[in-house]
Amino acid sequence: MGKFGRWVTERELPGLRAEYEPDFVIAQAENVTHGSGINRQHYGELKRLGIDGFTSGNHIFKREDIQPLLDDPAAPITRPANYPAGNQGVPYKTLSTSRGEVILITLMGQIVGKDADVPANNPLHDIDNILQAIRPPRPIATIVNFHGDYSSEKVVIGQYLDGKVTAVIGDHWHIPTADARILSGGTAHMSDVGMVGARDSSLGVDTEIIVRRWRGEEQGSNQLSERGTYQFSCVLVDVDESTGLARDIQHIFRSGVTG
Ligand SMILES: [Fe+2]
Repeated sequence: MGKFGRWVTERELPGLRAEYEPDFVIAQAENVTHGSGINRQHYGELKRLGIDGFTSGNHIFKREDIQPLLDDPAAPITRPANYPAGNQGVPYKTLSTSRGEVILITLMGQIVGKDADVPANNPLHDIDNILQAIRPPRPIATIVNFHGDYSSEKVVIGQYLDGKVTAVIGDHWHIPTADARILSGGTAHMSDVGMVGARDSSLGVDTEIIVRRWRGEEQGSNQLSERGTYQFSCVLVDVDESTGLARDIQHIFRSGVTG
């Protein structure tokens, strides 16, 4: 989330990479640049920190210079797959990792989809079409990021895709849920993974502004929190490459204070 989130990533990701030695790292890129979308410069900075793939959501069309990458099948950044045909970008991306190919898909929920800059299709219909179109050889993992609102939506999409993909990881709320688990069919699921950014904030925004707006005193624009206690919220998924399903999912949460 914004500049502070990028700073936290620089501070925490190298240590996490050294400790857990992940084969690939995926980040939500939806709020990277001033809290809305991601530009080319920040994309490059985060890639150099060791992020291999980027997902997105309703703000992905905000920054013009990133848009050509959405069309490029080799650029590891997704736009929501359930944006209708005719929008910029291909529906999903295939990442080349040291262990093999990983399919990365973003789906947008229908609640946030209604208010998005571009209306989204039904994610259940579109994910069926994508999974049917994937031809052998099977990827070592298929990761679905569900950018949505209601907990019911997030739980149902996990169960809908259980046994069909490696992981279904929700976000968009910025608040981690306490339900990281392996579903009965072998898919890793968490309703919301939370965020990387200012912990004592309203989803990364200064709380004081939100309170003044809520009290009807001032309609100020959002200011991102850029100091104080931070959080780094993520999941570690252990993938069984022989099945394309998950053995384990672990929610990892780090926090600290700016120096
Ligand atoms: Fe969002």
